[in-house]
Amino acid sequence: MIKFLYLISFILILNIPSIENVDRQNFKTCDQSSFCRRQRKYKPDTTPYEVDLNSMKTIDKGHLQFILLNTLKSNIKFQLDLYTLEHNSLRVKINEINPLRKRYEVEYVLVGEPKLVDVTFKKTDNNQVEGRFGETAKFLLNAKPFRLDLFTNDIFVISVNSKNMFNFEHYRKKSGSDGAETENNTEDNEDGMWEETFKSHHDSKPYGPSSIGVDINFLNFENVYGIPEHADAFSLRSTHDTDPYRLYNLDIFEYDIKNPMALYGAVPYMLAHNEHATVGFFWLNAAEGWIDVLNDKLNTKNNWFSRQNIFSTITNFFGTKSNNDNNEVPEVTTHWMFETGIFDGFFFMGPTPNDIFKQYKAITGSTPLPPLWAIAYHQCRWNYNDEDDVRSVNNGFEQHQIPLDVIWLDIEHTNGKRYFTWDTSKFSDPEKLQDDLAIYGRKMVTITDPHIKKDDGYHIYAEAKSHGYFVKTKDGADYEGWCWPGSSMWLDYFNPDIYKWYSQRYTYDNYKGSTPNLFIWNDMNEPSVFNGPEVTFPKDIVHYGDWENRDVHNLYGMLQHMASFKGLVERSNGHIRPFILTRSFFAGSQRTAAVWTGDNAAHWSHLKIAVPMLLSLSVTGIGFIGADVGGFFNNPDPQLLVRWYQAAAFQPFYREHAHIDTARREPWLFGDDNTRLIRQAIEQRYTYLPYWYTLFYKQEKQGIPPMLPLWVNFPHDKNTFKTEDLFMVGNGLLVYPVTEADTNQVAIYFPGENTVWYDIRTFTQHNGLQTALINVDMESIPVYQRGGVIIPQRLRKRRASMLAIHDPITLVVALDRNHEAEGELYMDDGQSYDYRQKQQFIHRRFTFKNNELQSISLDSTGKFETDAWIERVVILGYPKNPNRIIINSGDKQAIPLHSYQEATQTLVIRRPGPSVTANWTLTLS
Ligand code: NOJ
Repeated sequence: MIKFLYLISFILILNIPSIENVDRQNFKTCDQSSFCRRQRKYKPDTTPYEVDLNSMKTIDKGHLQFILLNTLKSNIKFQLDLYTLEHNSLRVKINEINPLRKRYEVEYVLVGEPKLVDVTFKKTDNNQVEGRFGETAKFLLNAKPFRLDLFTNDIFVISVNSKNMFNFEHYRKKSGSDGAETENNTEDNEDGMWEETFKSHHDSKPYGPSSIGVDINFLNFENVYGIPEHADAFSLRSTHDTDPYRLYNLDIFEYDIKNPMALYGAVPYMLAHNEHATVGFFWLNAAEGWIDVLNDKLNTKNNWFSRQNIFSTITNFFGTKSNNDNNEVPEVTTHWMFETGIFDGFFFMGPTPNDIFKQYKAITGSTPLPPLWAIAYHQCRWNYNDEDDVRSVNNGFEQHQIPLDVIWLDIEHTNGKRYFTWDTSKFSDPEKLQDDLAIYGRKMVTITDPHIKKDDGYHIYAEAKSHGYFVKTKDGADYEGWCWPGSSMWLDYFNPDIYKWYSQRYTYDNYKGSTPNLFIWNDMNEPSVFNGPEVTFPKDIVHYGDWENRDVHNLYGMLQHMASFKGLVERSNGHIRPFILTRSFFAGSQRTAAVWTGDNAAHWSHLKIAVPMLLSLSVTGIGFIGADVGGFFNNPDPQLLVRWYQAAAFQPFYREHAHIDTARREPWLFGDDNTRLIRQAIEQRYTYLPYWYTLFYKQEKQGIPPMLPLWVNFPHDKNTFKTEDLFMVGNGLLVYPVTEADTNQVAIYFPGENTVWYDIRTFTQHNGLQTALINVDMESIPVYQRGGVIIPQRLRKRRASMLAIHDPITLVVALDRNHEAEGELYMDDGQSYDYRQKQQFIHRRFTFKNNELQSISLDSTGKFETDAWIERVVILGYPKNPNRIIINSGDKQAIPLHSYQEATQTLVIRRPGPSVTANWTLTLS
């Protein structure tokens, strides 16, 4: 019914002729967006931009400043700032000098002022400045024409404006109006420059055109990744025959896959990877953006190369001459176009994948370690109807002995979509409900959307209204639109007072019915406005600071979830780690929220696309991510549902969720056998939680996301560069989700020279650098542990993760070809900040070498106390049954029992016994 109403409201409001076309018709193509149209066709033979080298100033160590001129508009000057940053990174800013209106520079994203490092620079001739910085990086700034080339280890990797597409539309007055420029004004009157209409929506554009475009070219690369969010391939496809990839946070109803349309979030960050280097480009801009990607060949015989003698570095790069016989190298040309803002580009020079993660983390931060329960299994639906329903779902998990950590309440739990309230006819005692769930070790999550119902009787509305807290129209009135509750208004989080006030809505006093076991879901925060242009805010509405939505649009959702996070930290006086799930996001969202891929559907194709979507998020810093298990729209058949549970058990955020119109989908509703299979998948997730938790800790510290494309661990293996049917969890697990119905055999590529992979179920071994046909049944999806990696597990069955914190640990030691392996284990109380504030953690390192398995502390400041002990050691690929096994821990020595299976070369050592906090050595002979 509600879906029906939702559709009807769409149809009435947006005049949609048929439901099939709903998504495409309501959203602009590049051609329907005037700045995209202008920028996309801007391809002059030469660039009019020149750097005035005489203007060069050294502002600081690592900061050079120049004047950049548009020779076609002699009166317009730009400031070009180059900043050499720590960690092999370069920042380049270009802004108008004395603009008619100040341009927006993005706030909230950077973790601080990036740290400068010395640059050694020289003018190489009258036309160039060369700068060396960091460990391996170099830039060459060419003055006439303006162009910037970047090198890592003296290999040419990125060029800026080598295709002459740099095009900065300075603020100007409309020709004919008072004070308008006189020179060359015909181009200033193109359709849509000064006002624009899309469907029935008019954009008044009070400040006229202000877009920026530039080409960023990745030389010697064939694959680029990132710029989420799109339901598309991981290695970005050429947009030659399609629209560019769009970055504009939107609520796309029933999104299609394999197209470059915008979705709920935006991270304007792209990575390029080849066998030699990983590099990245991040443009800090929160306006609407479009990015063309073209896979090209670059002819190195052209003038530029012969003049710069760069060709020799390319020859070195390939090592052999043969690739260059026709003087061509691969190149990915990308054309970035934003509606407004400034050019603020960060170039990360790698050169390894892990360097790139560190470099991006230094700028935008990393995902803090979530509570342990947040990375366990979540049960959601729109909606669990009332308290009895929630209790019966909880009982269902008990009865069927399926582990569960969280039950979620969607919008129907509120009093008429008034967030921070309860529908008391259905939830008369929410505190008791949460307390009761807590007995089982379980939490609850409720939804708080950003639209505020227009109702004087609603305390949040009344207070916000009286203080003038809502986003304003261009004429200064409170902006009003439609969303779930009907007429609504939106808080202006850009105002620090409102941000603070909103965060305080989460105190126990303000949010009646909430308890310490309640956490938060921020949805519809693009924001979704049912009757707005493209289902969101008009571009010309105004936020705090007089910024138009045009300037800041992609930040709105992030500000909401940042404020929610702050609220949850503060409600516990800084003691307990929050959990927030957000649908909309931007660069930096990783610091305060988990992200899911929104309204997917119960189709095999959506199960499959989840992997490239999640990988694109992962490599751009957003690591705590998942897709709705089973698909949000429609009803999955049991086979699809089981496969989804099996795949998502190995993806960072694991939540089943479904639309209000779908059939109930709790794991026990599909017959005993499917219940068993779903239980098995969820149990597998719980088994690996110690490993996941360790990986999340690593993410906080090093920025390395837990879910990874293969090339991060196998950077030299070209066969992995386009892989999106397989992914890795950390450096130890290779996962192949089964994404087709009735599959009984799949072809799997095992990466890595001299690498051995162990089937986690059968312990069968497979060699790297080969593709094998693998038989598949419904019991599980193919997952392999990499030889050389030790993975900690918890095998005891528990109803919730928090009840298992002190449970014993099993170590699975998968030996490599040299009979060696290593791994780590991180543990703490699973929910508080004591690991940071009081060193309440342990971080252990395990190594297997020369027939000895050792446990040492990786960080001796850690002092978490636990009874957890090593219950079992499983060694995979051990060549013979050992005669004797001795374990030494302190002054204690023991001889544990063991068993050996020759067929699979598996050695199981039972109850070796040491505490996980102790140093110990286990010796095999
Ligand atoms: C849209 C969200 O994407 C979906 O997950 C949620 O169930 C509905 N809004 C209702 O809140």
